[in-house]
Amino acid sequence: MSRKIVIAGNWKMNKTRAEAAELIKPIVAAIGNKNDISVVVATPFTALETVGNLIGNSSVQLSAQNMCDKASGAFTGETSAAMLRDLHVSHVILGHSERRAIYGETDALVNKKVLAALENNLKPLLCTGETLAEREAGKTLDVNKTQLLAGLEGVSAAQAENVIVAYEPVWAIGTGKTATPEMAQEVHAFIRKVLADKYGEATAQKIRIVYGGSMKPDNVDALLAQPDIDGGLIGGASLVAKDFLALVESGLKAQAKR
Ligand code: PGA
Repeated sequence: MSRKIVIAGNWKMNKTRAEAAELIKPIVAAIGNKNDISVVVATPFTALETVGNLIGNSSVQLSAQNMCDKASGAFTGETSAAMLRDLHVSHVILGHSERRAIYGETDALVNKKVLAALENNLKPLLCTGETLAEREAGKTLDVNKTQLLAGLEGVSAAQAENVIVAYEPVWAIGTGKTATPEMAQEVHAFIRKVLADKYGEATAQKIRIVYGGSMKPDNVDALLAQPDIDGGLIGGASLVAKDFLALVESGLKAQAKR
C-alpha cells in the first residue's frame, strides 16, 4: 500500500475573503474530483467559510491553521474544534514553528490541541522542526524527536493514522533556503523510525510525513522523489494558484511512480 501524497497550502495571515475566493477558484477548477493525492488549503479563519463554499463537493480539503485545545467557554479570541467542524473543516495545522516561536506554544499545549482535534475528527498537521542554531549544534534529530513524541503523547496507533507529520526546518521557512532532498529524507526516515518504535512498523508505514520550508515548483520533484517524503506543507508558493497547481501536478506525477 503506498501512502497518498499530500499537497497542503498554508496561506498564513494572507488573503481577505475576496482575495481568497480569487485564489481558490482556479484550484477547485483544476482539481475537481481528482483524488489520487490529497490537496489541502489552510486559509485564515476569516476565509474558511468563503473558501469552503467555493470548494463545495470538489476533492479539495479545508484546513485551519490553529485551534484551541478547549471545547468551549471563556477563552477570548480562540476557536474550538467543533466550530471548525461546523465550517466543514477537515484538517488543522498544529504546532507550526510560528505559533511556537512568536506565540509561545509549548509541546504540552500542542499535544492538548492534537488530542482535541482527533477527538473531533479533525486531522492534525503536526509540525516539528529545528532552528538553524539547533542544526548547527547537531541537535536536529533530538529536537524533532522530542517535539514529535510530546505532540503525540496519549495518541493511539489508530488515531495516529489520521495525523500528518510536517517536518519544517525553521531555517528553511520563508527564507528561500530549502533543505536538500537528502537532508530532508534523513529527518523524514528518522521520524518514521520514531513512529515505528512508538506504534509499530505497519502504522508508521501508513503515516504521511510531509516537508515544509520553501518548497517550490523548481525543487518539489527532487523532494518528492525521496522515499519518506509524502508531500509538502507550502507557504509562499501556495499563494499563487499557478505555483500551487504546479506543485499538485508534481504530486500527481510522484504518486504515479509510487
Ligand atoms: P514557506 O512556508 O513555504 O513559505 O517556506 C512553509 C510553512 O511555514 O508552512
